[in-house]
Amino acid sequence: MLANINGTQIAYSDNGAGTALVFLHAFPLNRTMWAPQETHLSRRFRVVTVDLRGHGESDAPLWHSSLEQYAGDVNGLLDHLAIQQAVLIGLSMGGYVSFAFYRKYARRVQALVLADTRAAADSAEARTGRFNLVQTAYRKGAGAVAEIMLPKLLGATSMAERPGIVRQVRHMIETCEVSGIVVDSMAMAERPDSMSLLSLITCPTLVIVGEEDGTTPPSEARVMAQGIPGARLSIIPGAGHLSNLEQSDRFNQAVTNFVTELL
Ligand code: MLT
Repeated sequence: MLANINGTQIAYSDNGAGTALVFLHAFPLNRTMWAPQETHLSRRFRVVTVDLRGHGESDAPLWHSSLEQYAGDVNGLLDHLAIQQAVLIGLSMGGYVSFAFYRKYARRVQALVLADTRAAADSAEARTGRFNLVQTAYRKGAGAVAEIMLPKLLGATSMAERPGIVRQVRHMIETCEVSGIVVDSMAMAERPDSMSLLSLITCPTLVIVGEEDGTTPPSEARVMAQGIPGARLSIIPGAGHLSNLEQSDRFNQAVTNFVTELL
């Protein structure tokens, strides 16, 4: 479905009923990365997946943006769907958007699931990497970005043994608008550090990480889980950065256990 949010067409799916779980995808992917969660978790909960601006079926305006803007879009979508409070589940860039959302709209966050993400801002080296990736996207297109990103997104086990997932992730990246890749990269490079936010988070929080995640490794997840009062940590074996796709059953179980305890 499409909704006009903040002057931009934002695509989303809305399935199931009950406690609302709102899923925010990674870079440079789209809401289809949450297919295993949509299928499984919508039997018990209301599952909303969003294409952030620049991704999937949402508009991809080529203009300066920020993670605060993405968070504002999510807030507008919650208004549109008449959802007062939701469990926010963000993976990697989706986690950065969750921090931005929490900073501004904490009252709407029933609980947080921070998956394969980090609280720290970019290092100078990471910013240089984003600049280089944007130049590659601009000159060679999203296919070249897929070659670079795939081994960063998927763990060694998935790269070797799960060709279907490799194909699916490659397709998501190859079909991402270059404007989406550019705008996200600049927004992530400019994002503020969220380390000082951690101790201020008062909602129930689950931190999830794939054991083979080399992009936001388990050490980063431990920092978040230790910094957020009462947060829990779930480390998923056999998964890399996209733990929800690579080990969907374990991911779904961790989320189900966590959300069920909230009720
Ligand atoms: C992602 O998966 O969203 C990206 O790896 C995040 C990032 O580049 O920092």
